[in-house]
Amino acid sequence: MKNFILKGDICFSNDKNIINTAENSYAICVDSVCKGVFSDIPQEYCNLPVLDYTDKLIIPGLTDLHLHAPQFSFCGLSMDLELLEWLNKNTFIEESKYSDSGYARKAYSIFADALKNSATTRACIFATIHLEATKLLMDLMENTGLVTYIGKVNMDRNSPDILIESSAQKSASDTEKWLIDTVNKYQNTKPIITPRFIPSCSDELMECLGELAKSFNIPAQSHLSENKDEIEWVKELCPDCTSYGNAYEKFGLFGNNTKTVMAHCVHSSDNEIELMKKNGVFIAHCPKSNTNLSSGIAPIRKYLDNNMKLGLGSDVAGGETLSMFSSIAETIKVSKLYFRLIDSSAQPLTFENAFYLATKGGGEFFGKVGSFDKGYEFDAVVIDDSVLPHPQKLSVKERLERAIYQNADLMGLKAKFVRGQKTI
Ligand code: GUN
Ligand code: FE
Repeated sequence: MKNFILKGDICFSNDKNIINTAENSYAICVDSVCKGVFSDIPQEYCNLPVLDYTDKLIIPGLTDLHLHAPQFSFCGLSMDLELLEWLNKNTFIEESKYSDSGYARKAYSIFADALKNSATTRACIFATIHLEATKLLMDLMENTGLVTYIGKVNMDRNSPDILIESSAQKSASDTEKWLIDTVNKYQNTKPIITPRFIPSCSDELMECLGELAKSFNIPAQSHLSENKDEIEWVKELCPDCTSYGNAYEKFGLFGNNTKTVMAHCVHSSDNEIELMKKNGVFIAHCPKSNTNLSSGIAPIRKYLDNNMKLGLGSDVAGGETLSMFSSIAETIKVSKLYFRLIDSSAQPLTFENAFYLATKGGGEFFGKVGSFDKGYEFDAVVIDDSVLPHPQKLSVKERLERAIYQNADLMGLKAKFVRGQKTI
């Protein structure tokens, strides 16, 4: 069913500073596209079926711009390490297990089920270096009805023997095989070029990946300026580059030629920020791993005021949960610490700002996604916030804020629609 009407208490952004609310109103979906929100059903739509979610909150689906499927298994474990140690001591060991398709099936089934049952409707996902396991993840994600980009990870240097590709050529040829198999295979699941980060990819490999992104006309994702030791390492590896971002740009993998999303950008230099702005690189702000991995806090107020392309990522397992409600609340919290401890001219994010980032901000990576404005693809989630009883009268926006801070996406998810298809 792609033509229907949702009735309930509707909240959405069309501007980074405003949340529109419409109590007891109607969001209209025709051919998987939103026709707008109305207080009464317009005459032309009066024959469409109404799905009645009276007293429930209805919001656009959330976009998780950055997470790692193979890391879901160790969410909330070993959270006392910094990035490079955390990668070596547990991440790479866990990811190496995905060479075993049996293990991958078991783990990825759990992951796909959890993401299906969350408020996320769109996601940019890292898999591992393994071809078969990545294809399996794509099959499983296609069955969830979510719209996702999934990346076979590339790593041909500075990685442990258990998780490294034997050469740049082998990594590139595996990637090409995977692209041929998957680029037109699915309706909702698409491949994305995924060099893990500059330290783990040789120039020779990066050059091949830039060419593959261009010839298959697909986007790219990676990590950028997350941790100070990592940035120093990149300087040693790429002495000629003007910034860490320039090390991707050199190969056409930084918004030039290729739509790109970069996770973190915690310590980006002015030069790097300029380059991201100029090239329209999307930033996936991951507040949870900013704190869990002691990376530091990304200057998100600056990025927002600078009108950069910006959304939120859970960064599972740098983030301990794939709940995007939790990432919205965390975005506000870390922006307050940034204001208090780092730069008193950077005003903390408002609730409106953070909600916008998780919906329309990140949704833009997927096109017209993340709002109920006319013409947006119809992604919606219905939240029953009566799981959080309260004695006083609250406005619709207050109920939304409370539902988000108290993780009602986990307890109160009633229904989910992706491109007009009901998935829960
Ligand atoms: N940088 C390179 N790999 C990773 C990863 O798996 N997680 C995070 N947070 N940063 C990375
Ligand atoms: Fe990450």
